[in-house]
Amino acid sequence: MRVAILQIRRMPATYFFDTLNVLYAGDLRRDGHEVKVYDHNLAEVDSLGAGLANLKQALDDFQPEVLLFERVFSPALVAALREESTIAVGALHQESAEAIEGVDFSLPNLARTPVVEAINALAEKGLDGLANVPGLTFNGTTPDLGYRPSVDRLFVDFDLAYDLMIQTRPSPDPSPLRKHVFGNLGCPYRNAPNRTGFLDDIELPTNITARGCTFCDRPDYDRIRPDFALGLVREQLQQVRVAYPDLEQLILVDEYALRYVDRFVALLLEEGVRDIEIFFSARIDYIHKFRDRFEAAVEQAGGQLRLVMYLVGIENFSPMELWRFNKGVSVRSAIEGLNILKGIGDRQEHFRCEPSFGFIMFTPWTTPLDLYLNLAYIQRLDFDQWRQSAILTRLRLYRENALYFKALQEGLIDEDSHEGADASARYGYEAEATWRFVDPRSRAIYEKVYNAPSGEAGLLALQQALVPYKAEIESILQTVDLEDPDTVVKLATGDLAGAA
Ligand SMILES: C[S@@+](CC[C@H](N)C(=O)[O-])C[C@H]1O[C@@H](n2cnc3c(N)ncnc32)[C@H](O)[C@@H]1O
Ligand code: SF4
Repeated sequence: MRVAILQIRRMPATYFFDTLNVLYAGDLRRDGHEVKVYDHNLAEVDSLGAGLANLKQALDDFQPEVLLFERVFSPALVAALREESTIAVGALHQESAEAIEGVDFSLPNLARTPVVEAINALAEKGLDGLANVPGLTFNGTTPDLGYRPSVDRLFVDFDLAYDLMIQTRPSPDPSPLRKHVFGNLGCPYRNAPNRTGFLDDIELPTNITARGCTFCDRPDYDRIRPDFALGLVREQLQQVRVAYPDLEQLILVDEYALRYVDRFVALLLEEGVRDIEIFFSARIDYIHKFRDRFEAAVEQAGGQLRLVMYLVGIENFSPMELWRFNKGVSVRSAIEGLNILKGIGDRQEHFRCEPSFGFIMFTPWTTPLDLYLNLAYIQRLDFDQWRQSAILTRLRLYRENALYFKALQEGLIDEDSHEGADASARYGYEAEATWRFVDPRSRAIYEKVYNAPSGEAGLLALQQALVPYKAEIESILQTVDLEDPDTVVKLATGDLAGAA
C-alpha cells in the first residue's frame, strides 16, 4: 500500500517530536509498503486551503491509498486532503478522532503493532479488515491491544526512517535542528497517591486516576532499569546521528532521566557527540533529589556539550492551587529548586534553562488570593527567565485528565461551547473543553488579563484588576500561615475563618 503519514502542526516548531512517525514508517517499509512522512507547518497561514497547497501537490504526486494523520485538528483538514482514490484515513494517538467526519479509524496507543496490522489488514481486505485489529478503534470499538505500551516495545529492533520524511512547509520560525530520543514514556509521579481530598467525591472513568498531578495525562513510568534505558537510547541516538550528522539539539524524553543523567552524558561522549545542546526535563523536586548526579553531569559535559533544562513544572505559586493539582511540591521547595538551577547556571557557562517551565495560572477554582500570590512571586522572581508570559497560561481540560471530571461533575464544563476547543486545537493539543470559573471575581479578572498582548501587559492588567481585593487579601495573609497544610486546605475550600 502507499501510505502517507501526515505530521501537520499549527504552531511554530517547538518541542514536537517526529520519532514515532518515522518509527512507524520504518515498520511499514519493512513490511513492503511504500511510505512517506510529510512534515508540514501551518503556523501563520490565513486560510487552510492556501496553507495546505504544497502538501496537496506532494500528495497528488505520491497518490497515497491511506492517510495517517498524526493529529486531526478539524474535519476541514481531512476534507481538504482526502481524495476519491483514498481508501482509508486514520489518526494516530487520538482515539476521539475516529468520530471526525472523513476519519475511518484511530490508533490511540503509543504502539507499533496496530499501525502495521492496520495497513496489512487494509491491503488484504479493505476497510472491513479493520474490524478486528487489536488496539485499533473502528466503528466505535477498540479490541484490546493485548499488552501495555512501553518504551522497550517501541525501541527494540526498529528503524527510524528519517529518510522517508519530506518537508512540505517549514515553520516560519525555524528552530535549531532538534531531535529526540526516548528513555521512558511515563512519569514515576503518576502513581503518587492523592490524599488531598479534592477529588474524593468525583467519579473517574477506569482509565483515569486521581493519583499524580491531576491536570496531566502522562502514563505511569515504564519499569525499566537505567542500564536498559541507556541501551535503548544509545541505539536511537546512533540512528538519529546517521540521519542528521549536523544535529544541533538532542532532547532526552524521560521524566525521571536525572536518575541516570551522568551516565547519559558519559554515553554521549563515548558515542563521540560533541558541541550540541542536550535537553532534560524533570520535576522540580528531582533537582533536589538528584542534585549531585546532575552537577556531576554538567561538570563532565564541560567544554564538550551544553546542557539545557526545560519544561520543569512549577505550575503555580499558590499552595492552594498546588494542592488542587496534587503537585506534591511546596512553593518554598520549588523556589529552592529554581535557585539550585540558577546557581549551576551562574557557575557553569555551558548550562542554561530554557524559559519554557510549566505554569498554570488560571483554573476553574482559582481565587483572587491565588492570583495575588502568583502576581507577587512572578514579579519577585523575575519569572520570565523561567517561563515567558506565565501569566497568560491556563488549565486545559479534556477527558484524559482527572480535573476534567471534577469540573464536569461540578457543572463547570460548558459542553456546547467551542471557544476553548478552538484555542487548544490551534496550538496542536487535544481539543479542550470550555470551562467556567467558580468565583465570578476570578472570571472578571481573567477577562481583563488573559487576552493581554504580552506577558508584561498581562501583569499590569492583573495588578490593576486586583486593586479592589488587595486590602482584604493582605489582611488575610497577615493572619494565616501558608506553609501549614491544614490552613492551605481551609483556604482552598473557602473556609477563611477557619484558616485564620
Ligand atoms: C509534560 S509536563 C512535564 C513537567 C514535569 N514532569 C514536571 O512535572 O515538572 C510539562 C508542563 O505542561 C503543562 N501541562 C500539562 N498538562 C496541562 C494541562 N492539562 N493544562 C495546562 N498545562 C498543562 C504543565 O505546566 C507541566 O508542567
Ligand atoms: S506534570 Fe510532570 S510530574 Fe506531574 S504527572 Fe505530569 S509528568 Fe508527572
